[in-house]
Amino acid sequence: MTIPDHIRLIQVQRTPDALEEASSVLSGIERERLVGFRSVARRESFALGRHAARTLLGSALACDPREVPLEVREDGSLDVPGTPWNLSISHSGVRAAAAISRAEIGIDLEHIRVRPESLFRFILHPDEMELRERVDLPMDRQIVLFWALKESVLKAKRTGLRRSPKSLRLEIDLDQGSALISGERRWEARFEIRDEHVLSVSWLADSESASE
Ligand SMILES: CC(C)(COP(=O)(O)OP(=O)(O)OC[C@H]1O[C@@H](n2cnc3c(N)ncnc32)[C@H](O)[C@@H]1OP(=O)(O)O)[C@@H](O)C(=O)NCCC(=O)NCCS
Repeated sequence: MTIPDHIRLIQVQRTPDALEEASSVLSGIERERLVGFRSVARRESFALGRHAARTLLGSALACDPREVPLEVREDGSLDVPGTPWNLSISHSGVRAAAAISRAEIGIDLEHIRVRPESLFRFILHPDEMELRERVDLPMDRQIVLFWALKESVLKAKRTGLRRSPKSLRLEIDLDQGSALISGERRWEARFEIRDEHVLSVSWLADSESASE
């Protein structure tokens, strides 16, 4: 995926080494959270997501990944206090991804699998249903692509699914792997469909930080 220079992106996959390394960079608070998760899958995805975030930010801030200041806001999003960076992470199965930018940013990684057709009505505004004809992909891929694009924006906005995906409108260029997403503000996105996953990263269009 080709992304603008103001964005740094990392993808990680679960391997025995990766998990051990991931656990070794967590802060004390993160370790406490980790042992509190009942599900092994949640423990793994949490560790991989934080590992990705700490690795990226350690390099951007030229510090040890363990020393990266990372806090959870009340809305669930992640803050990097005292730095100019915005951060978003996503995990899906054995994979996780993180992106940082000085612009508001959101990332979503989704596994492509069979989903009910009724999801279109949850994701798309009635005015957008024509996307189903225009975007030349099988139904399961369409659903996941539309979902990932909108969820990455809802994460950049920090509302998550407290805000309906239908509040956003998509314009998609499948060949370029790019999209414009509008709501109260306009967002740009790049996406890729690879290894049965969709990865989408969105940022606030026309923001000063994005043009630096
Ligand atoms: C944010 C949200 C869309 C993520 O959904 P998801 O597909 O399950 O998860 P992803 O792997 O893509 O992303 C998870 C990461 O998003 C981040 N996140 C959580 N809440 C967030 C928010 N409001 N805004 C931006 N990012 C958020 C976290 O870093 C989380 O990872 P972590 O818990 O390991 O730290 C979803 O959790 C949500 O809508 N939350 C807010 C509303 C809510 O709590 N609803 C209950 C379920 S509908």
